[in-house]
Amino acid sequence: MRKETEEKLDQIRGSMIGGAVGDALGYTIEFWSENEIFGKYGPDGITEYELVGGEALISDDTQMTLFTANGILVGETRFRLRGIGGIPRGYVSYAYLDWLKTQISDFKTVNQYERFTEKGGRSWLLDVRDLFARRAPGKTCLAALEQRAEREYPDDSIQNPINNSKGCGGVMRIAPMALKYRYFINPDDLYMEAAQLAAITHGHSLGYMPAAVICYIISNILRSYPEKSLKKLVLEARDTAERLFEGDPNLPALTEIINRAVQFAENDAPDLENIHALGEGWVAEEAMAIAIYCALKYENDFSKAIIVSVNHKGDSDSTGAITGNIVGAIVGYDAIDEKWKKNLELHDVILEIADDLCHGCQMSEYSEYIDPAWVSKYMKMHRYKDPGADKKDEMADREAQANKENQENRANTVIQLVKGDITKITDVEAIANAANRSLLGGGGVDGAIHRAAGPKLLEECRKLHGCNTGEAKLTSAYNLPCKYVIHTVGPIWYGGRNGEAELLANCYKNSLEVAVQNGIRSVAFPSISTGVYSYPVEEAARIAVSTVKKFIEDHPGKLDLVEWVLFDQGTFAVYEAAMMQLKA
Ligand code: APR
Repeated sequence: MRKETEEKLDQIRGSMIGGAVGDALGYTIEFWSENEIFGKYGPDGITEYELVGGEALISDDTQMTLFTANGILVGETRFRLRGIGGIPRGYVSYAYLDWLKTQISDFKTVNQYERFTEKGGRSWLLDVRDLFARRAPGKTCLAALEQRAEREYPDDSIQNPINNSKGCGGVMRIAPMALKYRYFINPDDLYMEAAQLAAITHGHSLGYMPAAVICYIISNILRSYPEKSLKKLVLEARDTAERLFEGDPNLPALTEIINRAVQFAENDAPDLENIHALGEGWVAEEAMAIAIYCALKYENDFSKAIIVSVNHKGDSDSTGAITGNIVGAIVGYDAIDEKWKKNLELHDVILEIADDLCHGCQMSEYSEYIDPAWVSKYMKMHRYKDPGADKKDEMADREAQANKENQENRANTVIQLVKGDITKITDVEAIANAANRSLLGGGGVDGAIHRAAGPKLLEECRKLHGCNTGEAKLTSAYNLPCKYVIHTVGPIWYGGRNGEAELLANCYKNSLEVAVQNGIRSVAFPSISTGVYSYPVEEAARIAVSTVKKFIEDHPGKLDLVEWVLFDQGTFAVYEAAMMQLKA
């Protein structure tokens, strides 16, 4: 069966990876104005990835798309092996609650619980540490799923709307429904179920009807493109929506914006003008229309379609993701330019899920055939570790890793920047906290660290009786994914003539001193003093980077990794410039 089902493999991979590419390219500029976009990147806007830590980061669009697929495949497996029919929305609801775990908890905490438990979840994707990252998650999705945790499944989301939102969070994640169910007994049931999946978090009909439209288009690209043109498929999708949702008061708005997208794709107005006329993409019908426009306009030029779909002032990662799902399904994975694939975060996981969507569960309750990887992922809900992996290879890997570390110890310590939330960082032993002199918690990163660590951190801090500005003190990290917290107190900026520069330098110096004294070899810093204490970021970054660089030169081999975890793109860019200037 595997060979039979591989006929569409390249297109299914293309759709999943294509969506992630559009998401990653758009994520960088998601909240930027057009002045900022075109001011920084020129008239074509962003046309290459902005790498963070060497990777093109995906956002919640791709994260939720992966969990849609995981849920669908769990349901299909149960059906094939137990004969227990499972409508996708029952399983996908649970998968979305697993995605929620990655946003409000951490890898260590979730994975200390058994799967199939409330806290342990049901998705093998929870074994993927890199998915435990908050990438501007949709507030509606988070809120709706928090609410859902109390509801029974599978309730009929369209009949019992969870809210009145028509945000694009439902349509941005729907591709796996089209990619898995290429052959559906009654296709209308497929498109309606796609709408049901969107309605898990978006109860306004313009929040879920677009999901049916996009599902129709992608499913039929696999089935009857190019015999049927993309334009014909779009118009059929529109007519299908009219039939499925007949009588819905918002239906005219849906069909009208689809007609405009089709019409604009045939005019020669500038793309940005056409996109502005369709909207910004924060709401589902606009995101759908912008993606349809870009796909129709550039259906055989994946890069162009993606670049046009993200370079506007709206929800760039979602319009990019949906465009990538459509055009990726047309051109196929192999035809997507290598530059979009080589640095894409979670590329291999996305490809693995795409292959699973393509093959489906090949076992059945009567078959002798057992697929251990499939059993591990969709019955035991854990990532598959091939037991047969050549022990020799493992030994070789360990050997290479040890040599690499020794070499690094000898030669140099890695200094790097990461964009994200320091309370989620898992690659260091200690994170530094921008505390205040009381050490009793506060707002900003101090507040975030205390919230994530739990009350025991405050208990231990109380015993430290405060900390002077520029000094540093060590505690455990409790519920944080690292082992220690180094609390340091930055200077408040009073104009720069009160010794602020030296005090800030002392924060980094003393924090690293504390680390080395305690045998800690990897430390992550926030941008100390540049929030509430309003230290000018450029100046602070220069002091931070030069101080850390000097400390490392004065203490060779004592540290493996020092990194800054920067919460927003603006601060990240300033530190990046400082690193470049100081060749750190
Ligand atoms: N991860 C990483 N960085 C973060 C996070 C986070 N979760 N939350 C905030 N930041 C960033 C901010 O965006 C800013 O760039 O940390 C940097 C430092 O900002 P503040 O937390 O405000 O710290 P600071 O300017 O040093 O002021 C310290 O604020 O929170 C209070 O109790 C603290 O009184 C002390 C003062």
